[in-house]
Amino acid sequence: MKGTIHYCLEGTIIKNHGEKAWQNCMKAAGLPSDYTYITKIRDDIDEKESINLFVTCSKSLNIPLTELFDQFGAYWCCHYAPEIYAAFFVGIKSTKNAITKLDWVHDRVTRHIPNSNPPRFIYNWLNDDKLQLTYQSERGLIDLFISLIKGLNTCFKDTCRITKNSPTQLILEFGDDITQTELIDLTS
Ligand code: HEM
Repeated sequence: MKGTIHYCLEGTIIKNHGEKAWQNCMKAAGLPSDYTYITKIRDDIDEKESINLFVTCSKSLNIPLTELFDQFGAYWCCHYAPEIYAAFFVGIKSTKNAITKLDWVHDRVTRHIPNSNPPRFIYNWLNDDKLQLTYQSERGLIDLFISLIKGLNTCFKDTCRITKNSPTQLILEFGDDITQTELIDLTS
């Protein structure tokens, strides 16, 4: 997985828990405590090691993995991506706008990066405000995907209802009648 994810995780932990907590995470991961991913944004980092890093950090921080995903989603959408990938945000005013561009953006951003293997998203609009969204990735990170959608809502002060139908499929409902972000997990 591209090191941009790891560098964003580093920023997420430093912002939410402080420098010392990041140093402890690095030690728990078997890396030097002053380790940083700043120079590794475009590098390929081993897939297993990448997913393990989230797990190791959540244990070191003593928070559930889903909480770390939520913190990552908010940091990615509100701080990291608007700074590093500012062009993506031009003209985007809502979660619905952003989601609609998501597949294009992953394809576009990673097309020229050798060995990248971005997630892909398949859209099936059931009506103007109801989207059946299929997440395609061998990494199986649908819960991280959900946290990133919540992050978009935080960033745009928006709301939507997210129904997790399966490890690869969500239903997203937008509209004025949905006044807070809701997650309905039909898999648990
Ligand atoms: C400016 C916006 C964005 C850019 C440039 C971007 C780019 C990337 C890149 C480079 C990766 C790593 C891919 C790889 O290692 O091959 C990634 C992973 C991922 N992105 Fe995005 N992303 C953006 C926004 C989002 C948003 C808003 C969501 C969800 C709402 C999202 C969902 C994901 C997920 C779930 C992964 C984890 C990898 C996987 O599941 O296979 N991304 N993204």
